[in-house]
Amino acid sequence: SAEYTTILAEARGRVGWITLDRPEALNALNSVLVTELIDAALIFDASSEIGCIVITGSERAFAAGADIKEMADQGYAEMLVGGPFPGWGGFERMRTPVIAAVAGFALGGGCELAMMCDFILAADTAKFGQPEINLGVLPGFGGSQRLPRAIGKAKAAEMVLTGRMMRADEAERSGLVARVIPADEFLADVEHTAATIASKSLPALYAAKDALQAAQEMPLSEGLRFERLAFAAAFATDDQKEGMRAFTEKREPNFTHR
Ligand code: CAA
Repeated sequence: SAEYTTILAEARGRVGWITLDRPEALNALNSVLVTELIDAALIFDASSEIGCIVITGSERAFAAGADIKEMADQGYAEMLVGGPFPGWGGFERMRTPVIAAVAGFALGGGCELAMMCDFILAADTAKFGQPEINLGVLPGFGGSQRLPRAIGKAKAAEMVLTGRMMRADEAERSGLVARVIPADEFLADVEHTAATIASKSLPALYAAKDALQAAQEMPLSEGLRFERLAFAAAFATDDQKEGMRAFTEKREPNFTHR
C-alpha cells in the first residue's frame, strides 16, 4: 500500500502478501522496514478477511540480515531501546498462519524472520545462515533459540559458530524448511499453499496455530492438556458442525468464518 517505502503489502483474495522491497540492500532489515513489516502484518492479522499471511522477498534475497550500516555505530542503550531489535512481540503473537517464502539469501535477521513464521517454503535457490559471528556479534532476532529448536543443537551450533551458509536441500533435510520448490514454480506454489490454508475455518486455523506454538514452548504434558481443551472448544464452533456434516454428506464444507 502507498504509505510504505520498504515493503509492498497487498491482499490477494484471503491471503495477505508482504514483499520486502529494499533491493539496493538485499532487503536488509532496517528500522523503517521492520516497523512497516510489523505494521502491515498486524493489520492483516486483525482482519477476518485474511486467513494466511505470506512474507517474501525477491529472487535474489529474502533478507540479508539486519542492516549492518544502520547498526554499526550503535551502543548498548540504542540496541536495547530502539532500532529494529525490540519490537517483535506483536509479530510473534499473531493469530493468523504466516508462511515465509524464501528465495535467495536468508541470512542473520533474515533467517530469523523466516523462523518466526509458522513454516518456511524455500525456492531451490535459498541460502540460510547466521553469519553474525563474522561481524563480532551473535544472532539478535531469536536465532540462537529458534535454530536449535528447528534443526537440533549440533547443526545449530555449527551454523552459529562458523557463520556458514546452508543450501535449500540441506535445510529441508534438517527440518528448517517445510518444502523446497524449483525457482520457476516457486511463487505459484506459495500462492496455492497460502490459498489452501486461507480457505479453512479461521477459528480452527487460529486454534491449530496456537497449539503448534504451544508445542515449541511447553512441556509435553502441558501441551497435551492445552490441545485437549482447544480440541473440545472447537466443538463450540459452527465450523466444526459444518465441517463434519459436509464430510458425511460428501461435499465441500462452507465455513462461516473464512
Ligand atoms: N546490511 C546492510 N547492507 C547490506 C546487508 C546488510 N545485512 N547485506 C547486503 N547489504 C548491501 C551491501 O552492502 C551492498 O550494498 P552496496 O551496493 O551499497 O555496497 C548490497 O546490499 C549488495 O550486497 P553485496 O554487494 O554484498 O552482494 P553480494 O552478492 O556480493 O553478497 C551477501 C551477498 C553474501 C549476502 C553479502 O551481501 C553479505 O554477506 N551480507 C551481509 C550478511 C550478514 O552478515 N547478515 C547478518 C547481519 S547482522 C544481523 O542480522 C543481526 C541479527 O541477528 C538480527
